[in-house]
Amino acid sequence: MLTDFCTTTTTATAAISSTSSSTAVGNSVLIVRRIATVLLFVSFSCFVLYRAGESIGFRIPASFTSRASFFLPTDNVSTAAYSDTEEYMLEKVLKNATMEDKTVIITTLNEAWAAPSSVLDLFLESFRIRDQTRQLLNHLVIIALDEKAFSRCLALHSHCYALVTQGVDLSKEAYFMFPDYLKMMWRTIDYLRVVLEMGYNFVFTDADVMWFRDPFPHFYKDADFQIACDHFSGKPEGVGNRPNGGFNHVRSNNRSIEFYKYWYSSRETYLGLHDQDVLNNIKNDSFIRDIDLKMRFLDTAYFGGFCEPSKNLSEVCTMHANCCFGLESKLHDLRILLQDWRKFLSLPPAQKISSALSWRVPQNCSLDSLRHYAPPPVKKNFLFPLISAFYFGNADEEVKEPRMLKEPL
Ligand SMILES: *[C@@H]1O[C@H](CO)[C@@H](O)[C@H](O)[C@H]1NC(C)=O
Ligand SMILES: *[C@@H]1O[C@H](CO)[C@@H](O)[C@H](O)[C@H]1NC(C)=O
Ligand SMILES: *[C@@H]1O[C@H](CO)[C@@H](O)[C@H](O)[C@H]1NC(C)=O
Ligand SMILES: *[C@@H]1O[C@H](CO)[C@@H](O)[C@H](O)[C@H]1NC(C)=O
Ligand SMILES: *[C@@H]1O[C@H](CO)[C@@H](O)[C@H](O)[C@H]1NC(C)=O
Ligand SMILES: *[C@@H]1O[C@H](CO)[C@@H](O)[C@H](O)[C@H]1NC(C)=O
Repeated sequence: MLTDFCTTTTTATAAISSTSSSTAVGNSVLIVRRIATVLLFVSFSCFVLYRAGESIGFRIPASFTSRASFFLPTDNVSTAAYSDTEEYMLEKVLKNATMEDKTVIITTLNEAWAAPSSVLDLFLESFRIRDQTRQLLNHLVIIALDEKAFSRCLALHSHCYALVTQGVDLSKEAYFMFPDYLKMMWRTIDYLRVVLEMGYNFVFTDADVMWFRDPFPHFYKDADFQIACDHFSGKPEGVGNRPNGGFNHVRSNNRSIEFYKYWYSSRETYLGLHDQDVLNNIKNDSFIRDIDLKMRFLDTAYFGGFCEPSKNLSEVCTMHANCCFGLESKLHDLRILLQDWRKFLSLPPAQKISSALSWRVPQNCSLDSLRHYAPPPVKKNFLFPLISAFYFGNADEEVKEPRMLKEPL
C-alpha cells in the first residue's frame, strides 16, 4: 500500500518537474513549484520511511552523477556570501597557479574520485603522457570537497584548495538529503562566478575528462563562454547543441559574470534541475542575447566523450567519460582509453596520420549495458530512479546510480 502510494506520488512529482520547465512563466511556475514542493515532501517522507527499514545505508554517492562537482552547502546558499578568509585563500591558490594571461584550469574532487587508482590518478596520468599537457598541470587547481580528497591532492599536486567550511565532512554527511546535494552542485556555478569576479579566466574540467592535447589552440578566440557537448550539431553557434557542463572555457568579463549570475538564479525557475539541464533550458534565452554573451559549442572532433567520441586521434584534445553508468565502468573504460592513446602515440609519425586506429571504448560505459544492468542497491531503493529523475533531470546523457560513496576498488 505504502509502496503504491509512494510510487504514484513520485511519478507525479517527476511529471510536474518537466512541466515547470516547459511552462516557465509567471504564476503557473509559482503554483507548479508549490505543488512540486508538497509532493516532494511526501516523496521524501516515503523515501525516508522506506529507507528506515533498510539495513544497508544509502548515500548519494560520488559516482551519482558522472559529473561529480559539488561544494559544501553553507547556511545561506542563496545569499552566496563568501568569507574574506575563503576568498583570500582561494585567490592565493589561483595566483600561484595562473598562466600569464590570468587563466587557470579548475577541477573538483571528492573522496571516491581521489582514492588511489580512481579517477584522479587517471586524470593526472592523462596530462603526464606528453610534455605539452604535462606543463598544463602547473596551472591546474584542484578544489577538494572533503578532507580525504584534500590530503590526497596535497600528496600528488601543488595547487589544492579545500572547501571544508563549517567543519562538515562532505564524504560522511549531507549525502542522503537530496536538496543539499543539489545545492552543492549549484555551489560550483556560484563559486566559478567568484573566480570570474576575481578576474581569472578558467577552463573548468571534470576529473573524468582525459587531457590528451593542449586544448587552448582550439578555443574560439572571441567567445565569452564555450562548452563541450554530448552531441555536436556541427554548428558552433547553434543552440540546438547538447552542452555538457563537464568541460568549458570562460573568459572573465562583465558578460560572463552576468551570465553566471543568471545561470545560478535560473535554478529557481527550473526547480530541481541540475546546472547542466538548466543551461540546456536557458541557452537560447533572450537574456543571453541582451547581455551580448558570446556562447560557443565545442566540436566533439576535438572535445569528445563516450557519448560522441573524437574519431581522429591525430586531432583529439580531450575525451570525457560521459554517457557512463557507475564508477567501476567508468574506470574500466578510462583505463582502456589511456591504453589506446599510448598505443597511438607509439606509432611512427607516418602511420599516425594514416592510422585507422580508433578507440576501443565505450565498452562498459555503453548505454546499452544499462538495459541489462540492475545492481542490488537500485532494486532496494525503488524510489530512487524517480526521485533522481526529479532532482537531476531525466538527462539521457548522464545516467546515475546509487552507490556507496566509498567504492570498493
Ligand atoms: C542568512 O539568511 C538570513 C535570512 O534568510 C539572514 O538573516 C542572515 O543574515 C543570512 N546569513 C548570512 C551569513 O548571510
Ligand atoms: C605555489 O606553487 C608551487 C608549484 O608551482 C608549489 O610548490 C607551492 O607550494 C605553491 N604555493 C602555495 C602557497 O600554494
Ligand atoms: C565591467 O564594466 C565596467 C563599466 O561598464 C568596467 O569598468 C569594468 O572594468 C568591467 N569589468 C570587467 C571585469 O570587465
Ligand atoms: C531560439 O530563440 C529564437 C528567438 O526567440 C527562436 O527564433 C529560435 O527558434 C530559438 N531556437 C531554438 C532552437 O529554440
Ligand atoms: C586526421 O587528422 C589529421 C590531422 O588533422 C589528418 O591529416 C588526417 O587526414 C585525418 N584522418 C582522417 C581519417 O580524417
Ligand atoms: C565490464 O564488462 C564486462 C562484460 O560485460 C564484465 O565482465 C566486467 O566485469 C565489467 N567490468 C567492470 C569493471 O565493470
